[in-house]
Amino acid sequence: MTTILGIESSCDETSAAVVVDGHTMLSNVVASQIDLHAQYGGVFPELASRAHIEAISAVVKQALNGAGVTLDDIDAVAVTRGPGLAGSLLVGVNYAKGLALGRGLPLVGVNHLEGHVYSLWLIERETPITFPVVCLIVSGGHSEIVLITGHGEYTVLGSTIDDAAGEAYDKVARLLGLAYPGGPVIERTAREGNATAYHFPRALSGEGYNFSFSGLKTAVLRAVQPPHEGPRPPKGEGMTSTQRRDDVNVPDVAASFQAAVVDVLVDKTVHAAREHGATEIWIAGGVSANQALRAAMNDRSPVPVRVPPMKLCVDNAAMIAAAGYFRYIHGYRDDQTMDILPMWPLVSIKDAMRQAE
Ligand code: KG4
Ligand code: ZN
Repeated sequence: MTTILGIESSCDETSAAVVVDGHTMLSNVVASQIDLHAQYGGVFPELASRAHIEAISAVVKQALNGAGVTLDDIDAVAVTRGPGLAGSLLVGVNYAKGLALGRGLPLVGVNHLEGHVYSLWLIERETPITFPVVCLIVSGGHSEIVLITGHGEYTVLGSTIDDAAGEAYDKVARLLGLAYPGGPVIERTAREGNATAYHFPRALSGEGYNFSFSGLKTAVLRAVQPPHEGPRPPKGEGMTSTQRRDDVNVPDVAASFQAAVVDVLVDKTVHAAREHGATEIWIAGGVSANQALRAAMNDRSPVPVRVPPMKLCVDNAAMIAAAGYFRYIHGYRDDQTMDILPMWPLVSIKDAMRQAE
């Protein structure tokens, strides 16, 4: 039995969890900063790292207590090393290093995307998993299609060349004068709208596995902005709700936007699953909470589709502990020189070990 303490602080959730053998979750404590960042319409990095510092110690204690264990029961500390916000990552990594040094515990740095993949490992299932599996990771920071051919064996088939899917939801919500985070509120608003009212672009459709969402965001902007009068807002500063035309049907725009996003995500993932003979499609990351995405993937996939429960869709440390377990049993270790990697791409564990040598 291997018990891993996981720590996650790459963005705006401070989280700690205790997981046994990569699948049994004894605890998973998540302190969200959403309320703190809502007023800015996005994550404010300096505030995020300060909030992580304030929360981390209590969150780790709560995870240990909740699991009914002490640090004596822990075999290794797994922590998100990247990708993510530098100031936020530093808090978790430094805390994990301190624990590892103080208690003589092995330290395992985990890729955040790998964590999202392993959120699927924490769900109960009746049949064992057979590889290969295709996983769509969609969050505020990422949109990738990953081929998984074994534990810790990843090939990134495609990713976004500009905005992430969740980022597109957040930006379009801002254009429409809706709250942050944009995903849940657009999903709710879209239920009242007509998804064929606008035909928004499906970028890179039929052209491999990369995504592009910035043209879609611009198309929404054009559909809702008032006729040009006076100075435009400076480039890069989105519109405020007062700059939206009054006659815009917000639910129709939300529904049409969501249809465009879901269409490309599903099309490309299903195509990848067929091309690589996947036995299952997995969806992970914050956007995997979206019911329209889940329903469309289920409709169009030739193989079973699996999604994590809501609490494992958002950033959490249980998925980091699960991924950390597989790194640990592969013999992957980090030491006190481990630094954060804010732009760390997802590579197979074997390659990560070779790079570390
Ligand atoms: O995985 P996550 O918690 O954090 C990152 O690693 O980014 O994902 C947060 C993102 C946000 O952009 C949010 O708008 C989006 O996930 N999101 C959704 C939904 N719930 C959260 N997007 C679409 N539909 C949802 N129901
Ligand atoms: Zn994430």
